[in-house]
Amino acid sequence: MSGIIEFDRVSKFFPGAVRPAVDAVSLDVQEGHLVVLLGPSGCGKTTLMKMVNRLYEPTGGQIRVGGTEINRLKVTELRRKIGYVIQQVGLFPHMRINKNVGVVPKMLGWDKNRIEARVDELLELVGLPPAEYRSRYPGQLSGGQQQRVGLARALAADPTIMLMDEPFAAIDNITRTRLQDELLRIQGTVRKTILFVTHDVEEAIKLADEIVIMQEGKLIQYDTPLNILTNPSNEFVARLTGANDVLRRLSLQTAEAIMLPPGPETTSTFKQVSKNTDLREALGLLLSSREETLVVTDEDGKPVGRLTMDLVRSQTQPTGKKAVSATSTEN
Ligand SMILES: Nc1ncnc2c1ncn2[C@@H]1O[C@H](COP(=O)(O)OP(=O)(O)OP(=O)(O)O)[C@@H](O)[C@H]1O
Ligand SMILES: [Mg+2]
Repeated sequence: MSGIIEFDRVSKFFPGAVRPAVDAVSLDVQEGHLVVLLGPSGCGKTTLMKMVNRLYEPTGGQIRVGGTEINRLKVTELRRKIGYVIQQVGLFPHMRINKNVGVVPKMLGWDKNRIEARVDELLELVGLPPAEYRSRYPGQLSGGQQQRVGLARALAADPTIMLMDEPFAAIDNITRTRLQDELLRIQGTVRKTILFVTHDVEEAIKLADEIVIMQEGKLIQYDTPLNILTNPSNEFVARLTGANDVLRRLSLQTAEAIMLPPGPETTSTFKQVSKNTDLREALGLLLSSREETLVVTDEDGKPVGRLTMDLVRSQTQPTGKKAVSATSTEN
């Protein structure tokens, strides 16, 4: 299946540079997925993203959105399908929040009532009660609140694609966690295709359906968070994602601590583990087993519970993460 965004050997060579900022990247992003771009500073994440809405033009290769080569679309038409959220929110300081959020619908010529209704709906969605916030100026909001307004504004014209370049980077940990949870909640209802850049591995693991690992302009690995953590394609990926740390984290928990009650399948041929087995070992067994379930037993070998792949997987991720399908990646 081809993706809603297709990068086909896309390169970007800035004049005078010694190497391409983006180097022959091919990547299919599936509709409705949240794909995180992760990699060290200068590896080309922002450049790759800016080619999608044509803030930069590729020097090689092609990008298709919904099957259409983006050069065939008018820039205005393309950008109408694409919401863009950046770290420096870029709200217009002299405009009230409702005008900021309504900027794109207004450009599109929506009538006043429709814009007002849409603005209120979006402020509600991002957790800013309209009655309280719609008439304020950006300067009268905290950084986290401004970031929510930025998100609301990007969603205003209901784009199919969202580009988010380190949207939460400049925000304290607690607020960032809340914004991440809200993004997942919002994503649960609006299901956009999202390209999301971050430096923060925990954020990537929490949000991503798939992660793209980049290094010096090249795509190094594209897979689900679990597959990247359990099967990093090289030492660079392992170090960047702290893959070893996650396994270490798993190794600190026992099967007993998270097991589900025994199910009817405990009488079947599933592999067995003692309740004191650590989750790292259990994960290894699950991966080598043809089944998605292990039976947990007590000292006497009596079944006392079960472990499933989803359950162990959920322990590799901060809470609030949706289940990741290990089969959902194409590359
Ligand atoms: N407009 C530009 N002109 C020339 N070179 C550029 C331009 N924008 C980016 N570069 C170069 O391209 C490379 C990739 O930059 P890019 O901004 O895409 O990196 P990044 O992965 O987003 O980094 P960061 O994590 O620091 O934001 C860097 O070497 C950068 O110096
Ligand atoms: Mg960047």
